[in-house]
Amino acid sequence: MPLPFVRLPGLGGSDASYDAFDLLATMVAVVRPDGRCLFANAAFETLLGLSRRAIVRSSLLDWIADPAPLRDTLAAVARNDYACGRFDALLKRPPGSHPDQLPIHVIVNQTDSAERVVVEMIEIEQQTRLDREERTLGQAQLTKELIRNLAHEIKNPLGGIRGSAQLLQMELDSDRLTEYTQVIVQEADRLQALVDRLLAPHRRPHVVGDVNIHEICERVRALVLAEFPHGLAVERDYDISIPEFRGDREQLIQAVLNITLNAAQALDRRRAAGDAAIWLRTRIARQVTIGKTRWRLALELHIEDNGPGVPESIRDRVFFPLVSGREGGSGLGLPLAQTFVQQHEGTIDCDSVPGRTVFKITLPLP
Ligand SMILES: Nc1ncnc2c1ncn2[C@@H]1O[C@H](COP(=O)(O)OP(=O)(O)OP(=O)(O)O)[C@@H](O)[C@H]1O
Ligand SMILES: [Mg+2]
Repeated sequence: MPLPFVRLPGLGGSDASYDAFDLLATMVAVVRPDGRCLFANAAFETLLGLSRRAIVRSSLLDWIADPAPLRDTLAAVARNDYACGRFDALLKRPPGSHPDQLPIHVIVNQTDSAERVVVEMIEIEQQTRLDREERTLGQAQLTKELIRNLAHEIKNPLGGIRGSAQLLQMELDSDRLTEYTQVIVQEADRLQALVDRLLAPHRRPHVVGDVNIHEICERVRALVLAEFPHGLAVERDYDISIPEFRGDREQLIQAVLNITLNAAQALDRRRAAGDAAIWLRTRIARQVTIGKTRWRLALELHIEDNGPGVPESIRDRVFFPLVSGREGGSGLGLPLAQTFVQQHEGTIDCDSVPGRTVFKITLPLP
C-alpha cells in the first residue's frame, strides 16, 4: 500500500521526507527487504535510547528476539506476496535498559518501492497501560468529586454538633458527664481536621510563577531530612539542563513532599538499620504522551526508595482518596499530590517491587 502523505526519497535521498514519522507516538523504521535500517523515527530512537545514526547502521533483525517472522514477512511483503503483514514480537533493548525486552505488535507495510518496507512497532503494554490509565483517571475523578461533596455535607452539621456539645457541657455539673461532651467535642475536631484536608486541594488559588524543579527538590530534601535525621540518605541526581517553567511552586513542593515523606515513612526498618535511601532524580523526556496530549518536551522527577514497596493489596489504588496501607495514615497524601500535578497537566506513575519503589512525576515543558 503506498503512503500518500510521505514523499519517500529515492536511493541516496535525504531523510527529511520521513519527518512526518517523527510526529507519531508509535515506533517506525524504514528498512530494506533484508532488514537493514534506512530510517528510524524519534519514538524508536527514544525507546532504544540510541541515536538515529546508530540505529541506521544496524539491521532491524538485530533488535528482535526471534527474527525469523520478521525476516519472512519483510521478504514476502517486498516480493508482493501480500501488501501487509502483522505479528507479535519481542523487541530487544540495549544492555542495561529496564526492561531489557519489550512485547510489541509489528506491522510490515509496502511502500512505493520494492526496495523499502515500512515497519511499525506498537508497544503492547503501552496500549493497555493507556487504556487502564484513562479508566483509572475517570474513576479517580468521580471518587474525588464524591468525597468533596460528602466532605461539604459533613462540615455543616459538624459545627452544630460541636457547638451543642459545648453548650451542654456548660449546663452539666458532673465531671463524669462532661467527659462525654468532651469526647464529642474532640471527635468533632478530629473529623473537622479530616474534612479540611479533604477540601484542601480545592481551596488554595493556583499561583503561577517561574519554577525551578531543583529548588523544589532541595526544599523537600531539607524538610524530609529535618523530620528524619537518622539513618536516611537523600541522594540527588539532577539534570541541571532542565529549564525553569511556569507553575505553582507551593503546590509542587507539597506534591513532591507528600511522595518523599511516604518513602521516608515506608523506610522505617531500614532507617533503624541505618541504610535507608531515597533518590531524587531529574531527567528530560522527549515526545511524551500524557492523557491524550502529546508533548515535545517534559521533565521527569523520579522519587525512588529502597523500602519494602507499596503493599500489594493497595498497589493499583494508591492514588485514590482514603486508601492507606500505613498505621495512622489518612490516605490523602497521594491523591493531593496527583491533583496538584494534574493541575500542571502532568502525571504521576508508580512502579513498586520490594526493595525498589519509584514514583515518577512527569511535567510538560513548554
Ligand atoms: N514509597 C512507598 N513505599 C511503600 N508504600 C508506599 C509508598 N508510598 C505510598 N505508599 C503506600 O500508599 C499509601 C497511600 O499513601 P498516601 O500518602 O496517599 O496516604 P498515607 O501516607 O497513608 O496518609 P497521609 O499521606 O494522608 O498522611 C500509604 O499508606 C502506603 O501504604
Ligand atoms: Mg502519605
